[in-house]
Amino acid sequence: MHLTRKEEKMYQGEFGPAIEKSMEILVALGDIYGAEGMVEIVSAQISGVSYKTIGEAGLEYLEDLAREGAHVKVPSTLNPAGVDLDNWKTLGFPEEFVEKQLLIVEAYCKMGISTTCTCTPYLVGNVPPLGSHIAWSESSAVCYANSVLGARTNREGGPGALSAAICGRTPNYGYHLDEERIPNLLVEVETPLKGSDYGALGYLVGKSVGSGIPYFKLKSRKQGKTGVNNLKALGAALASSGAVALYHVENITPEYKSASENLEMLEKISIASADLEETRGTLSMYKDKPDLVCLGCPHASLEEINEVAQILKGKTLANKLWVCTSISVKAASDRMGYTQIIENAGGHVVCDTCMVVAPIEEMDFKVIGVDSAKAANYVPSMCGLDVVFDDWQNLIDFKN
Ligand code: F3S
Repeated sequence: MHLTRKEEKMYQGEFGPAIEKSMEILVALGDIYGAEGMVEIVSAQISGVSYKTIGEAGLEYLEDLAREGAHVKVPSTLNPAGVDLDNWKTLGFPEEFVEKQLLIVEAYCKMGISTTCTCTPYLVGNVPPLGSHIAWSESSAVCYANSVLGARTNREGGPGALSAAICGRTPNYGYHLDEERIPNLLVEVETPLKGSDYGALGYLVGKSVGSGIPYFKLKSRKQGKTGVNNLKALGAALASSGAVALYHVENITPEYKSASENLEMLEKISIASADLEETRGTLSMYKDKPDLVCLGCPHASLEEINEVAQILKGKTLANKLWVCTSISVKAASDRMGYTQIIENAGGHVVCDTCMVVAPIEEMDFKVIGVDSAKAANYVPSMCGLDVVFDDWQNLIDFKN
């Protein structure tokens, strides 16, 4: 792998041990994947934040890096942590876990990384422009960045994204290259989509396409609003049942024109409403109302929180409700009065964490209701709890 003179010096340790260690990781990745050189990045998004996922070894690694003076060179944000960093006590997070979690976030903070802790950094100002090179590691955010923003990133692991942020560059291979952004599966969706259908569609297609690139033809642009919220749900599900990092949607995503050049040569699948119905069935282990409903996977937008607030207005919930989001979106929700409406109904707008990376299995919940196919896929394996997948309006239950 070719390194510039400056990169060679970074690799040899002339800029200190943190950069040396990080360059070693980047060079090793570049060698494995056959990169010819490095490319400079403009943004990083770093996973490996929850104590539940990185444990003691991860915490030590981060504290060592911070001690060695590591500091990021590009705007960088964190993936969700294991707890709501401000309201962990009210929400009942275990104290021992919280102590460790706070140390992890502190180490990242020392490196200059924004501790917004969200999987939707594109909703809170980390919005790289079309064609820019970035190093993001949350799989749903990777899918969104490549597909909807048209930025370029591989599915980085936490250490790879952190190393890229510290060095300001990443190995130039995979989705950074034009020739690796061409679709290999045409998906014709024959049914109108709404709500959690986007997640079910993503889950189904992710299973067939694996690490490939699907090109979606939706039946009509009038089939529901295919806006930010639907695209984030679609990408999250694609990235969880498969290893998708990029998809195209005809007339919607920015690279669909160049991606449509040889569509007639592609393998094709058609998706009907019965296919989505069947997928919904496989994602739900349980039919009754859940004891905890967890929305915001990926983290909720202000618009989604508003939709929940409007339905909850003046009512009292019979089951518990978390609407997971970032601290920034919650601040806007507080100001708009949505948080207060949700709290009055007995629910919570939960920041910095989510139903998968929080230790909910230690918090006395048994059945979790989700409207996200990604969450439905991971809650059983990551938390050992039963899951119900449906539109959120069907999951919540009222006392009055
Ligand atoms: Fe985000 Fe957690 Fe879902 S990190 S995409 S809310 S599993």
